[in-house]
Amino acid sequence: MRSGTGAAPVMTRNPVVIAGAGHSGVAVAAGLRSRGWEGGVLLIDAENELPYERPPLSKELLKDGASDESAVLRKEKFYADKGIDRLAGVTAESIDRDSRTVLLSDGTRQAYHRLVIATGSRARPLTVPGAGLPGVRSLRTRGDALELKRLLVRGARVAIIGAGYIGLEVAAAAAAKGCEVTVLEFQDRVMSRVTSGPVSRHFEQLHGRHGVRFVFGAAVTSIDGGQRAESVTVADGTVFPADVVLAGIGVLPNEELAADAGLECRDGILVDGDGRTSDPAIYASGDVTRFTSPIDCASQRLECIQNAQAQADRVAAHITGQAAAEPEIPWFWTVQHGVRLQTAGVRHPEDQAIVRGEPSDGKFSVVYLRKGRLAAVDTIAHLADFRTAKRLIAQGARIDPALAADPGIPLSEATSGTPNHSDADLAAARS
Ligand code: APR
Repeated sequence: MRSGTGAAPVMTRNPVVIAGAGHSGVAVAAGLRSRGWEGGVLLIDAENELPYERPPLSKELLKDGASDESAVLRKEKFYADKGIDRLAGVTAESIDRDSRTVLLSDGTRQAYHRLVIATGSRARPLTVPGAGLPGVRSLRTRGDALELKRLLVRGARVAIIGAGYIGLEVAAAAAAKGCEVTVLEFQDRVMSRVTSGPVSRHFEQLHGRHGVRFVFGAAVTSIDGGQRAESVTVADGTVFPADVVLAGIGVLPNEELAADAGLECRDGILVDGDGRTSDPAIYASGDVTRFTSPIDCASQRLECIQNAQAQADRVAAHITGQAAAEPEIPWFWTVQHGVRLQTAGVRHPEDQAIVRGEPSDGKFSVVYLRKGRLAAVDTIAHLADFRTAKRLIAQGARIDPALAADPGIPLSEATSGTPNHSDADLAAARS
């Protein structure tokens, strides 16, 4: 299916081909037009429907009574009005960098002036015996979410492998629907990749109050059953009966298109601050990229909408020869049982964690300091800390740990030294 009504001469001149129509791919297309790009814009969309919002798939969409329609990123009319061509149900198979063409799964070859790879990430597959049995699911697409929703019925025994964002959001949805939920997590606490002990404990207790059971240190060895999944076995031999098994064990970047074309990849396509790959005619944007953080110089791959959109803007700016907006501090969120965790910045495990407030009150923050500077914050029901922290992280603000630990003192008043640091000062802190 091809949609879009741009005049033919415009569409064929200097085409920018965008592989992938998730948050980032669509944002590149929109950004090119809002920045005045007059050449062609072609979105190659692996899925056969209008590009949609991903966050509701593991939250609102799973609720009883919720519409099966998730919010679309842009209405059909937008693509037509902006002269954005969209090829749906088609994937980019390979790139010929010499002729600047992309081979598509429908057998056609598409020439590009600039190519943007925004292929995102996929659910990490579970590889234990029995993982292919019916009833074993992962959650990445709208189709995945609708299939899971059908399986989450009252009384169903649901085994969730992985206590990350996806596993916990689905656990909350399943518990609300009256399922019996057991979460099997390899580590010793929930969300260990993204947060610290106090926040993990808060969410574990929250789930516990809603009847969700956790098993930590659980290494799944097999899924067993006849016609479909009936149980999950872990390394110590314990067997957990299950009608539904959801694997929420992380994501892998869809970098093969780039890697096969010889572009530099290392758990993500390597890009610079403008989204440029090692080929000047090819950019990459969103979950699939790895880049150096402008905040702390760490090499990172960010799985969040904020990054998908910010990088898209940088790519669109570079292609059109314009200045991009200043990079925003990355931020993330999850909602479980109605409780929202908002994170600004990227925490490293070795950061100093300081709790502000009393978790049992349901309103608290944890600030993370790296070499004395604010690096990240987790906030629960504390929007003021979230907003302030974003600003302070961008400034490279130094924080007095004793002041930060007092929830009665606004975070903006917990700084020490001058609020704005010189580049040399920041560079020293980052070295
Ligand atoms: N057995 C049990 N647990 C495992 C296993 C395993 N074999 N492998 C990984 N895990 C656990 C990890 O320890 C981690 O706690 O699964 C969890 C995965 O958490 P995340 O990395 O946060 O991944 P996921 O929850 O799948 O979310 C993926 O989707 O919500 C979006 O972009 C968001 O980054 C997020 C992505």
